[in-house]
Amino acid sequence: MNSAVRAKAEIDILLLEDSCRDVELVAHALRRGGLGFKVEHVDSKRAFIQRLNQRAPDLILSDFSLPTLDGYTALAIAHKKCPEVPFIFVSGTLGEETAIETLKKGATDYVLKERLVRLVPSVQRALREARERTGRRRAQEQLRRSHKQLRTLSDYLQYVREEEQIRIAREVHDELGQSLTGLKLQLTWLASRLPKRSKPLHEKARSMAAHIDETIQVVRRIATELRPGVLDTAGLLAALEWQANAFQTQTGIVCEVKTQMKETLWDQDLNTAFFRIFQEALTNIIRHAKATKVEVRLAEARGQVVLEVTDNGRGISDAEIHNTKSIGLLGIRERAALLGGTVRIKGGRGKGTALTARIPKTSVARTRLHSHENSHHR
Ligand SMILES: Nc1ncnc2c1ncn2[C@@H]1O[C@H](COP(=O)(O)OP(=O)(O)OP(=O)(O)O)[C@@H](O)[C@H]1O
Ligand SMILES: [Mg+2]
Repeated sequence: MNSAVRAKAEIDILLLEDSCRDVELVAHALRRGGLGFKVEHVDSKRAFIQRLNQRAPDLILSDFSLPTLDGYTALAIAHKKCPEVPFIFVSGTLGEETAIETLKKGATDYVLKERLVRLVPSVQRALREARERTGRRRAQEQLRRSHKQLRTLSDYLQYVREEEQIRIAREVHDELGQSLTGLKLQLTWLASRLPKRSKPLHEKARSMAAHIDETIQVVRRIATELRPGVLDTAGLLAALEWQANAFQTQTGIVCEVKTQMKETLWDQDLNTAFFRIFQEALTNIIRHAKATKVEVRLAEARGQVVLEVTDNGRGISDAEIHNTKSIGLLGIRERAALLGGTVRIKGGRGKGTALTARIPKTSVARTRLHSHENSHHR
């Protein structure tokens, strides 16, 4: 006997049988096989259903033909009430075809009454398989649950990070920008009151003004790099074009944005997702592609927004695409998946890499993103 069966003191068996002699025979066979069990015996459809309604047994043994209930009906009832519980027919007469038919209909096994020595091995196997099934199902459920939790967490972290960047960008731009502008005005006032003859003082004031101008530019750049304001004021296309330009200036790699679209001032989550996907794709091109040209297409097809970023570099390999350590690519896929979208990456050796992200324009997932807002922020 296997240890898990022994660990459980008694197997709770429900026996559907109308002949008292056969109940005894079955119990005897089980005892002789060394099984610790408790058997409850019912002999009608009503009693059977009533018993199953109370609680599910560990195992059902059933005669094939009872006066008030035929085997198939009993099997169907058991499957409906407790689909996980193994069901074995123990029958005096069961032709081969019928036997096969019962298995097809979901019976676990069948044992003929004249060969009751088979009963205990059959019961043991049925219980072992049922336990394994339950274990597998639990593991799968747990996996699904933890996957869902991780996704919610990454959704939340991304949302918080984005909000933080928006806030810092705004403060840097508005507060620092304004205070620098104020400083410059005061400097101009001071300079206008400097003695006309004092050349070095005027020189100093001019260089200070130039310094303040440069600092204002730096502040603007930092704010824009954190999150370009145009993304929220002018739309995705403007932000993509700004990013493409900055990329081209910085790297010398030609970057063209092609689209027929005009109005791209969509909701913040959609715009943010595409913009961050684009930035990640460009970072990869700088780091890995050895490309000289990048083409960006933005289009709308069947309710989905489609962003395609193609480079003419070395081409990503299948192994790189499917590598579980590719966190950058995983992030891209997750961003799209959170909004119900998909990402396709294709590469050909020496033929460049194409990344296509598709996200529905309206998505249910977005309501979930906004629920964070209510629970954590405002
Ligand atoms: N445009 C591209 N051309 C060629 N290879 C690429 C391209 N983009 C990605 N790859 C390959 O795919 C791998 C996975 O990219 P991924 O962005 O996931 O990781 P990474 O850029 O190496 O690191 P990080 O997690 O910092 O982004 C890269 O290491 C690179 O080998
Ligand atoms: Mg990367």
